[in-house]
Amino acid sequence: MDTLALLRIFHVIFGIFVAGTYLFMVLILEPRLKRLGPTVAGPLMSSISPAMTAAMGLSFVVLVGTGTAMVLILRSGSLMTLLDAGWGWAMVLGLIATLAAVVVGFGLLTPTGIKTAKLGNSIKGRPPTPAEAQEMGRLSGRIASLSRWNFVLIMLATASMISARYL
Ligand code: HEM
Repeated sequence: MDTLALLRIFHVIFGIFVAGTYLFMVLILEPRLKRLGPTVAGPLMSSISPAMTAAMGLSFVVLVGTGTAMVLILRSGSLMTLLDAGWGWAMVLGLIATLAAVVVGFGLLTPTGIKTAKLGNSIKGRPPTPAEAQEMGRLSGRIASLSRWNFVLIMLATASMISARYL
């Protein structure tokens, strides 16, 4: 098996993981957590956030690393004319959408997740005070809206990757 095939296998597996995670979170998990309320959402988010952050961080590094390596291999010697074809534009759009998702995810979503986890931990074993419940609701709302932005960016990256070869 050649290097390109290996890179593609890693790239697609990690791409499926990232896109699948966002599809599951935004379409299935978040609407249910909203209905179940902060007493369930808080402990669950604080339990999954550390693992999610690590797994997503690793996945983005693998995606950008393998993706950039594939572009360099597939267009070696013709990088200057990358944007002459739709394929090159699809790659640039995919890269920008991926990097924007990293900024939204790690710059905004992760700090909000940490705050939510801290608050969730501080109200373990007792009902939250009205102020705590309100803050938890505000943080959960922010997480939901940032996740939706990231969902759009990840879907954009995935769609441009999949359609690249037909452009
Ligand atoms: C969320 C981020 C990303 C996802 C979900 C993703 C997903 C995918 C998928 C599913 C494919 C297979 C498409 C096919 O074989 O038809 C692919 C191909 C590819 N991706 Fe990505 N990708 C992502 C980010 C990136 C980034 C940042 C780069 C770097 C510029 C990149 C470069 C490539 C390249 C060069 C190919 C091969 C295209 C071809 O053979 O025509 N990807 N990607």
